[in-house]
Amino acid sequence: MTTLTFLGQSAVLLESGGTNLLVDPFLTGNPKATVSADEVPADLILLTHGHGDHLGDAVAIAKRTGAPVVAIVEVAGELAEEGIDVVDLNLGGTHEFDGGWARLVPAWHTGLTPKGTPHTPGGLVINLGGKTIYHLGDTALFSDLALPSKRDALDLALIPIGGHYTMDRHDAVEAARLVAAPHVVPVHYDTFPPIEADAGAFKQDVEDAGIAKVTVLAPDGSIEV
Ligand code: NI
Ligand code: MN
Repeated sequence: MTTLTFLGQSAVLLESGGTNLLVDPFLTGNPKATVSADEVPADLILLTHGHGDHLGDAVAIAKRTGAPVVAIVEVAGELAEEGIDVVDLNLGGTHEFDGGWARLVPAWHTGLTPKGTPHTPGGLVINLGGKTIYHLGDTALFSDLALPSKRDALDLALIPIGGHYTMDRHDAVEAARLVAAPHVVPVHYDTFPPIEADAGAFKQDVEDAGIAKVTVLAPDGSIEV
């Protein structure tokens, strides 16, 4: 059993068997966050890319918890200078850990950290507690979103719907079709005015098309995957 808790924007906490994976922990300055960087648990931190609304509190949480940070090589190199443990994957790379694994896969977006490190953004395919979750990261609609499910049967996908900086809720319907997960949770919307989106309409469109079940989670909302 794996529990997913939505923390706002693209941040999620995955827990199974006492292992806590924290993805894109943007909590400080996130108007939707309901937990603080001082209290969130983490055994491993994973980043889709280094934009501020994804990198977030990763360094502070890594320093407090000792959790290593999995990120693309250029971002990992910047973070290592902070004295924290990093895992420097590039696209296609897999990191194995107790209870699962995580693979960095392509996304169509741009990447620059707040400190100015250019990098290629990604998505993450994460296996924990026997469940496989595809976090698309920030991306436009593109056909290779269909590739992760060719290798691993997906249980859940986290799909951005906010538009402006990513695909909007209409392209996200086609993305859900390509991703081919039976269950979808929308992310990356309503945090700031430019990315306001009607998650209920997205749910209706995806479910009416028979593509997947959609669960709209309020920040701090949880589901069993
Ligand atoms: Ni971004
Ligand atoms: Mn973003």
